[in-house]
Amino acid sequence: MGDHMSLKTAIVTGAARGIGLATTKLFLSEGWQVAMVDRDGAALADAVTTLDNVHGINCDVSDPASVDGMITEVLRHFGQIDSLINNAGVADFGPIEETTFERWRTVMATNLDGVFLTTQAAIPALKETRGSIVNIASISGLRASTLRVAYGTSKAAVIQLTLQQAAELGEYGIRANAVAPGPVKTKLAMAVHSPEIIAAYHDALPLNRYGTEEEIAQAIVFLASDKASFVTGQLLAADGGFEATGIGLPALRT
Ligand SMILES: NC(=O)c1ccc[n+]([C@@H]2O[C@H](COP(=O)([O-])OP(=O)(O)OC[C@H]3O[C@@H](n4cnc5c(N)ncnc54)[C@H](O)[C@@H]3O)[C@@H](O)[C@H]2O)c1
Repeated sequence: MGDHMSLKTAIVTGAARGIGLATTKLFLSEGWQVAMVDRDGAALADAVTTLDNVHGINCDVSDPASVDGMITEVLRHFGQIDSLINNAGVADFGPIEETTFERWRTVMATNLDGVFLTTQAAIPALKETRGSIVNIASISGLRASTLRVAYGTSKAAVIQLTLQQAAELGEYGIRANAVAPGPVKTKLAMAVHSPEIIAAYHDALPLNRYGTEEEIAQAIVFLASDKASFVTGQLLAADGGFEATGIGLPALRT
């Protein structure tokens, strides 16, 4: 080590598994160093031991004190923040009438409050590097569907929050963009996607399949990098054509 200061540094929240872990690995392969942030300490420790140029930080992004401590630790260890990837998220699908206020708050706390808190805490460091922010929204934030009253609303709010960040932080050279993944077979999705839902997605999506974590990571790392230096306030759906087709009736296919 010892050469920390010359490498670009990304913070990836929810980095212990799934899309966050794939994004971490892609950053590493492109020569970045990564602060891997997660509240699942055991899973994070396992992931960190397999990788070089990473620093694992146990943090709950919905807790302001935990977030402040995390940013301090990133700066102590790496000295700078070039990109913040707000990927930590939770899913809880249920009908409106069965979504208790507690379930609603749990989803909002991580998916929306977390993005607000980490970004606010990272702004002073992002000003120094004229860095970037990538927020992970969802196709569920673009289109309404049943059972997603909390999840879908949290992700729609993340899309608007991205626009607010782009509008306000542009004068510091800070870019903010969002990625809206379609379905990816991670632990999060498999907990809420039944075999019937999986089959229906395959049928309805123009690309006829789920995406991979790596495919979502490619969109995230592009928006974080200098390749997207004139792109801010945008939403990139990496979704197999989900947004383009709406309900995409298989019966209308030739
Ligand atoms: N998998 C999909 O189909 C899909 C589709 C659209 C959007 N997304 C979004 O992509 C992101 C990543 O999802 P995934 O599918 O990789 O999920 P995942 O459950 O596999 O991984 C999420 C990680 O975030 C961590 N995490 C959750 N809450 C946290 C908190 N408050 N503080 C710190 N860490 C926390 C978890 O411990 C876990 O390691 C989420 O924002 C999710 O909403 C996923």
